[in-house]
Amino acid sequence: MDIAQQLAATQALIDERICSFLPEPVGPAARLLAAMRHSVQGGKRVRAFITIKAAEMFGLATVTVLPAAIAFEFMHAASLIHDDMPCIDNSPMRRGLPSSHTQFDEHTALLAGDALIVRAFELLALLRTSGLDAEAVLRVVGEFAEATGAMGLIGGEAADIEAENEAAEAGLLNFIHTNKTAKLIVAAARSGAILGGAEDTALRTLTKYAHHLGLLFQITDDILDATASEAQLGKPVGADEASQKMTYPALLGVEGSRQRAQEVAAMAIAAAEALPAHNELWIELVNLLLQRNN
Ligand code: IPE
Ligand code: IPE
Ligand code: MG
Ligand code: MG
Ligand code: MG
Repeated sequence: MDIAQQLAATQALIDERICSFLPEPVGPAARLLAAMRHSVQGGKRVRAFITIKAAEMFGLATVTVLPAAIAFEFMHAASLIHDDMPCIDNSPMRRGLPSSHTQFDEHTALLAGDALIVRAFELLALLRTSGLDAEAVLRVVGEFAEATGAMGLIGGEAADIEAENEAAEAGLLNFIHTNKTAKLIVAAARSGAILGGAEDTALRTLTKYAHHLGLLFQITDDILDATASEAQLGKPVGADEASQKMTYPALLGVEGSRQRAQEVAAMAIAAAEALPAHNELWIELVNLLLQRNN
């Protein structure tokens, strides 16, 4: 199976299983629960794929780490719900569907995001019951919190909003992209590996790889916002320029951003070559994300 087929297989698995990790949408909070289900639909499942493949490098079966992979997708989905809200990016569409606040309403969207974040932590804590090492599970919970909190994804989102209408500056742009996007991808990779008992050397190389992959991912997202169509992306395009976002195209132009993406991809590939296993797969993933058009 080539990388696209492998990612498609993971996507199919996650799509099939993800709602089984959520409560049935019944009872007085049914609208909240329906909104949670709505927003975990669709998506490329890149973060789940990374967790599963990182775990597989160290001999763990997909079924064992599935709750961790789902936890990353829940956190990611929550970040997208909040990112789309009127007070942040004000986007009416996500994954080809109305965004949560558009389909439901703002209070439901806000709470659905909150509840998905909390459920993500619950799923990680429950890994303890699948026979995984308790120390490793605890470490994963801690790193997940660090990667997603004020010193990670949420801090990156805050900086992204604060930077609107500011002249693009390389240091700040790197901070935003590292925090809002790369840190969750790094945590997805590290979590799979930690649960599999990876040693420090391998973890360090994997961290370097995933950091560059994450930066590449967000540079490509910026390029696509400036160059792709709404039908391709399933979300509005041209939104970054309209909101005067600090993006790579704003700093370097589209061609300069493509060049930068190539350079970051080369750094990810260099790290992939030094990983203890699955080297081809990790290299192909870089090339897939470099060439992605959705
Ligand atoms: C979109 O992420 C937000 C970013 C961090 C760039 P994805 O492009 O992974 O979104 P889905 O999950 O495939 O919809
Ligand atoms: C958001 O970046 C990254 C998150 C952590 C949610 P963007 O605002 O560029 O993501 P899209 O383009 O809306 O998917
Ligand atoms: Mg945003
Ligand atoms: Mg956005
Ligand atoms: Mg974007």
